[in-house]
Amino acid sequence: MTKKLVTTAIYYPNAKPHLGYAYELILSDAIVRFHKTLKKEDTFFLTGADEHGQKIADKAKAENKTEQQLVDEFAEVYKNFETKIGIGYDRFIRTTDLDHEKVCKELWIKIYEAGDLYQKEYVGLYCVGCESFKTQKDLNEKGECSDHLKKPTELKEKNWFFKLSKYQEFLNQKIESGELKIIPDSKKKEILSFINSGLEDISFSRSKAVLSWGIEVPNDPTQVMYVWCDALTNYYTGGKDIWKNANTLHVVGKDILRFHAAFWPAMLKSAGLTLPLEILVHGHILSNGQKMSKSLGNTVDPEEVIEKYNSEVLRYFMLKNISPFDDGDFTWERLKDLYNADLANGLGNLVSRVVKLCEKHLPHLTSLYKGEEQLESAHKEFYDFMKDYDVMNAMNYIWKLISETDSYMQSNQPFKVIKVDEKAGKEMLEILRSQVYTIANLLSPFMPETSQKIKEIIKENKMPEKPLFPRYE
Ligand code: MSP
Repeated sequence: MTKKLVTTAIYYPNAKPHLGYAYELILSDAIVRFHKTLKKEDTFFLTGADEHGQKIADKAKAENKTEQQLVDEFAEVYKNFETKIGIGYDRFIRTTDLDHEKVCKELWIKIYEAGDLYQKEYVGLYCVGCESFKTQKDLNEKGECSDHLKKPTELKEKNWFFKLSKYQEFLNQKIESGELKIIPDSKKKEILSFINSGLEDISFSRSKAVLSWGIEVPNDPTQVMYVWCDALTNYYTGGKDIWKNANTLHVVGKDILRFHAAFWPAMLKSAGLTLPLEILVHGHILSNGQKMSKSLGNTVDPEEVIEKYNSEVLRYFMLKNISPFDDGDFTWERLKDLYNADLANGLGNLVSRVVKLCEKHLPHLTSLYKGEEQLESAHKEFYDFMKDYDVMNAMNYIWKLISETDSYMQSNQPFKVIKVDEKAGKEMLEILRSQVYTIANLLSPFMPETSQKIKEIIKENKMPEKPLFPRYE
């Protein structure tokens, strides 16, 4: 049986996780959980931390710590955070893990043996925020990196170079044909245009004299691998056992499209390894119209959302109100309004009204659930959205069911009918209860705890004292 390997980008552990980072994790987690409900393929969910490179070295220096101390501290922060927001990963990879170092060196040697690495003296502009070389066309009118709003520094080094240019036609063909599927289509177009504007070879190592925090290049103790070469390889280290036959989906933000849709597949091809199947490129969480980022200092702490509400509300907000294919804004006001409308008044209120009536009039629980296959055929539209990773529309579908169920209750008024025609009233309540159960089932990949709670409430046929989602003033 093939396996579905789902990966997130791995994060620079140089600050507390912010809301943008949480988005990618929650989106990927929902996709994995949904895939599990299909029971067609096993899944492996890989996430982790990108622990080498200039950014980490600079931060450690500023904090008077060793790099290892810094990344050890943050690895714990990140793992705890992921547990808190319900991320069910199978491995949390760290690029300082020993197996990763070994795999990186093996991959390097394969690429070297393919004749795709050579040495060159190089002068270029480097943005530490992106950990990437920049050309003039990547900069804004002030000569700054448009993501980090900082001028890149000039670097002059003798480095190893990877022959990316050799793979231009190969990449074009794989992406154009859809063999390597880039989602959404707008990002496919963007990367094809980048590839076809002419690929240049890329610097693949850094001189140890300038930066020593990295994985040493095999047979060249003067150099460490370029941090992106090391970071991208994490997917192969983590997925190695299943890589060859896996249906791999990389979930990444739009700022790192090139690395994933051009550099990485070229590296894999050079090393003679299988390519991923799909790359889902999501937008950014914005704060006042600007990408939320550590370097810009405009981040929102997701822990604050969890403290004020809870992790399920955070997941709800991210998945229902932000399209995976576009940028989305977070504001506290927007969160409060949507919470009150969709969770307190919408879902919470429906569950409470239905269960209260059932508790009073339907003492025996009859069969509720039609089985997975029937669920799929009854809600094909929802399943189709999810197969396209259109998580926001899948969530909207659930809320459409919530409001339809609400309307059914309003127009049929089972609470009145039951007084004059008990049988008809009970039938209506059975329908309502089974509908709420279906809603809970469909919700499970997105809000797993809420889904479980609703199912338990229905099975116990008793409304708990406290509302599921109290109104937030
Ligand atoms: N370390 C690299 C990735 C290496 S993957 C082999 C990196 N790290 S990052 O911490 O800057 O970003 C990690 C992921 O979070 C990326 O996919 C990035 O696009 C995403 N996001 C960072 N800020 C974000 C938002 N404001 N909104 C949504 N996603 C964001 O890049």
